[in-house]
Amino acid sequence: MSELLRAEGITKKYGSFTALDNVSMSAEEGEFVCLLGPSGCGKTTLLRIIAGLENATEGKIYIGGEDATKLHPSKRNFGIVFQSYALFPNLKVWQNIDFGLKCKKVPKAEREERIAEVLDLVNITDHKDKYPSQLSGGQQQRVAIARALALSPKFLLLDEPLSALDAKVRQKVRVELKNLQNKLGITTIMVTHDQEEALTMADKIVVMNNACIKQIGTPNEVYDHPDSPFVADFIGSINMFTTNYNEDNDDPNRFKIKAIRPENIEVLPNTAPEGVKVKVINIEFHGATYRLTLRLREDSAVTLMDNDITVDVPTSVFTEYDIKQGGHIKVKFNDSRMIYYNTDKEQPVLV
Ligand SMILES: Nc1ncnc2c1ncn2[C@@H]1O[C@H](COP(=O)(O)OP(=O)(O)OP(=O)(O)O)[C@@H](O)[C@H]1O
Ligand SMILES: [Mg+2]
Repeated sequence: MSELLRAEGITKKYGSFTALDNVSMSAEEGEFVCLLGPSGCGKTTLLRIIAGLENATEGKIYIGGEDATKLHPSKRNFGIVFQSYALFPNLKVWQNIDFGLKCKKVPKAEREERIAEVLDLVNITDHKDKYPSQLSGGQQQRVAIARALALSPKFLLLDEPLSALDAKVRQKVRVELKNLQNKLGITTIMVTHDQEEALTMADKIVVMNNACIKQIGTPNEVYDHPDSPFVADFIGSINMFTTNYNEDNDDPNRFKIKAIRPENIEVLPNTAPEGVKVKVINIEFHGATYRLTLRLREDSAVTLMDNDITVDVPTSVFTEYDIKQGGHIKVKFNDSRMIYYNTDKEQPVLV
C-alpha cells in the first residue's frame, strides 16, 4: 500500500484558541481511517483542512506525495458527505447527483451512465425521481454518498455521515457503507465520535482529544493496547483503579492506574474458594447479558479510590449464580490483561 494522504504538523488557531495542535496523520491507498474523539476535539476542523475548505495556521497537507497545502479544494479530487445530508431540496435524487457532473462539464451520455451506476451502487435506483423530502433519512444519506462518488473521486471525506440516523438504520447504513468502501477500494476518512462505529468500520483509528492526537492504530491495537487512560476509557468500557502509591519507585507524587476491561473479569459464585468478594450494587438487563455494578471491598495491599467495577455476565450465569441486588458474588481478575499507567498526581487522569 502506498500513502495517499498525509497531514503533517497541522496547527489551527482561531484567534488565541487552538483547535488543532501539531497534528500528524496519514491514510494509505484504499484505507478506511476514522477520526474519533469527543465533541469539540477538532475532528471536523482536521477534515476540512484535508479538504482545503479551511487553511491550517501551520503544517502541510500532502496528496499522493505532492504538497497540496495551497491547492484549491476543487483540485483535490475528493467526495464529501456531511452529517446533515445537504441535498438540494428542489432537485430530484438523480438531479442532485447530476449537479456536480454538470459543473464539471461531463458530457450528457457519460453523466447518465454515471448516475445510473452510482444509484445502483447505493441501491436507490427505485427512488431516483423523488425529491429529498420524500425520502427517509437513510435513503437521503445514500443519495449523499452516491453524489460524493459520482465524480469518481480519489478519496472520500465523511463527517459523521450516520449520526442523524436512528440506531437501527444507522447500523444498516454502516454495513452498507463499509461494504461499498471495500468494494470500491476508495481511501476514506470518516469523522465520528461513536467508538463502536470506529471499531467496526475502520482499518485505522486516529483517536483525538483536546486538539491533539492521542493514539493511532488498528481497532485491535487501540482497544487492546490503549496508550493512555483517556484512550482506554473512550474506546470500549473499562474499569480503572487509581492506587495512591507506585509499586515501581515509591514516588509519592506519582499515581499508578490499573485498568481492566469487563470481559477480563470472571464472575464466580459467592461459594467459590478463590476470587475477591464483591457486593452487587446495581443490575441492568441488556438482553443477552446483565451488566453488574460491583463494589470491591477494601484490599489490604491497595487503597482503591475507584471502588466500583462493571462486568457483563451472560443471562445463564446470572440465573445459575442467583445474582441479586445487595447480594455478594466473587470476581477474579485476569491479571495478564491488566493495563498499567503511571501518571503525575497533579495531572487529571482522563486527558
Ligand atoms: N470558525 C471557527 N471559529 C472559532 N472556533 C471554531 C471555529 N470552528 C471550530 N471552532 C472551534 O474549534 C474546536 C474544534 O471544532 P470541531 O468542529 O473541529 O470539533 P469536532 O471534533 O468536529 O466536534 P463535534 O464532534 O462536536 O462535531 C471547537 O472548540 C470549536 O468551537
Ligand atoms: Mg464535527
